[in-house]
Amino acid sequence: MTESAVNEHEVSYPPSAEFVEQANAGPELYAAAEKDRLAFWAEQAERLDWAEKFTDVLDWSDAPVAKWFVGGKLNVAYNCVDRHVLAGNGDRVAIHWEGEPGDSRDLTYSDLLAEVSRAANAFTELGLVAGDRVAIYMPMVPEAIVAMLACARLGLMHSVVFAGFSSTALRSRIDDAEAKLVVTTDGQWRRGKAASLKDAVDTAVDGADSIEHVLVVKRTDIDVSWTDGRDLWWHETVGSASPEHDAQPFDSEHPLFILYTSGTTGKPKGIIHTSAGYLTQTSYTHHYVFDHKPGKDVYWCTADIGWVTGHSYIVYGPLSNGATQVVYEGTPNSPDEHRHWNIIEKYEVSIYYTAPTLVRTFMKWGREIPDAHDLSSIRLLGSVGEPINPEAWRWFRSVIGGNKAPIVDTWWQTETGAIMVSPLPGVTATKPGSAMTPLPGIAAKIVDDEAKPLGPGGNGFLVLDEPWPAMLRGIWGDMERYKDTYWSRYAEEGWYFAGDGAKFDDDGDLWVLGRVDDVMNISGHRISTSEVESALVGHPSVAEAAVVGAADETTGQGIVAFVILRGGIENTGDDLIAELKAEVSREISPIAKPRQITVVPELPKTRSGKIMRRLLRDVAEGRDLGDTSTLVDPAVFEAIKAAGKKA
Ligand code: WTA
Repeated sequence: MTESAVNEHEVSYPPSAEFVEQANAGPELYAAAEKDRLAFWAEQAERLDWAEKFTDVLDWSDAPVAKWFVGGKLNVAYNCVDRHVLAGNGDRVAIHWEGEPGDSRDLTYSDLLAEVSRAANAFTELGLVAGDRVAIYMPMVPEAIVAMLACARLGLMHSVVFAGFSSTALRSRIDDAEAKLVVTTDGQWRRGKAASLKDAVDTAVDGADSIEHVLVVKRTDIDVSWTDGRDLWWHETVGSASPEHDAQPFDSEHPLFILYTSGTTGKPKGIIHTSAGYLTQTSYTHHYVFDHKPGKDVYWCTADIGWVTGHSYIVYGPLSNGATQVVYEGTPNSPDEHRHWNIIEKYEVSIYYTAPTLVRTFMKWGREIPDAHDLSSIRLLGSVGEPINPEAWRWFRSVIGGNKAPIVDTWWQTETGAIMVSPLPGVTATKPGSAMTPLPGIAAKIVDDEAKPLGPGGNGFLVLDEPWPAMLRGIWGDMERYKDTYWSRYAEEGWYFAGDGAKFDDDGDLWVLGRVDDVMNISGHRISTSEVESALVGHPSVAEAAVVGAADETTGQGIVAFVILRGGIENTGDDLIAELKAEVSREISPIAKPRQITVVPELPKTRSGKIMRRLLRDVAEGRDLGDTSTLVDPAVFEAIKAAGKKA
């Protein structure tokens, strides 16, 4: 029988004896956490260097706001950089950086220390003090990581905004956090062409009251406009600063960063993370889940620092563990589809952490592309961002992992800060498509609407029923929204509601099924339906819009929009649709651009006036309509379907 012909729940892949032999994790890790969860976390915190030891592991008295490692003091940047140099590993490469046009640069831990120190001195010189916010809007250049670490070193909160976001999106994040400084580049390389980034910053900061300076890294050498007194070149300001800087310790709960993510409303949420708990869990998970061996492995996480995966598994987890990693600036097909495999060969990458959407793209390009390369250095593969379908999982294992590298399918969120549910390589026999088991120290349940915990075979909602060190500490400026979004659904039980549906298979292994709220997952990027709807309604032609995520073979979900035009507006067909798509790009980002927009005469609504997205999703995915009995006017559907066929 071939693997694909059997029931997906029956095939599992135990780790090889060879892998088990050398693995960082063993079954005793689960036993230790089981015995005394808080003592287990206290032990994991020993991975870090503390200026002052903590007195309590957890204070949950002010739930749902946790305090971890109470009374402790440390410096996050010191833990990610200085201590490796002090331990004699200053010559170890921290970052093998690959520029998109083919340039490259290696930074050792000593280099990183000098750069971070210079940046910290320059930021201080600009008048920034602990607690201030700094926006970072940059492509994947080493200075982006240096800027993040310099913030951490000084106790400033960074707010990294994905460089693919529009100036409007950047502005709203600057205003919400009242950032004083923006760090950016003149431009960014995209498929061999330099595109301006500074222009978007100029637009964003125009009239932004909080902004004092814009610090610009020269990356592409394109012309930029300049505002004297406000704009500063990185190579002048940071370049001339002293490479010596003494890091001061901060309280365990000192805020580390804000990262905006989409929620169920149009306004992104500024997720707050703090220092010691976050660093403990990112360090712990990076060590055990990726079986990372400092000084031996070459690790590559393909995420962008604009997302939480980049924060936790490019910056804080790997660097706290003294990793040697690849950081790549460009897209996977520039100059051609061989780029990732060339990079893996060049640096002998041993751990490769990516997203299912990319695996499916590689599948589409054909296996002959990776087959043309020596990928034998790879010994572990990771997946994150959305459920990985079993077919992509098997392809990943056989074509990229040489049928031997374990795959860790890691479930977590911006809010959880670090990996929560994942196999442990060397311990878990994995199943294609299943995230398997909560990690040692993590408590999760699948429950039904009435909070009844489900066992094997159960299908319901994923909840986290105990606090964890890297958990978010709130939403910037809106603690009510924090409580309401995550803690109100199971308020009585005091559980965190993740917003994901999940099931246990008959063996009790966990499968994440995807969002159960109005958040879409496009290529692993979280985008809320209402964000896109409000961008569409912002266009003068549109009276009303409804957006759904429809299944998409490559991107997981694709954005499908239905719009009603304002009275008197003529439907000009393709021109209008192109204009509406451009509007969404401008307002949010090209990643939020709908795959399809259909002009409809009416939208299906319940008697209480709620748009019935489930039915629109059925239309978008070409399914027969289910129960439409709660609709005001079922005939609306015939009109929508007819419009959809024309489009
Ligand atoms: C989804 C990314 C299934 C999930 C780290 C979650 C996953 C959302 C997985 C968080 C996975 C992430 N299997 N689904 N391994 N990993 N998700 O905040 O819906 O960008 O709630 O964090 O991605 O997305 P976020």
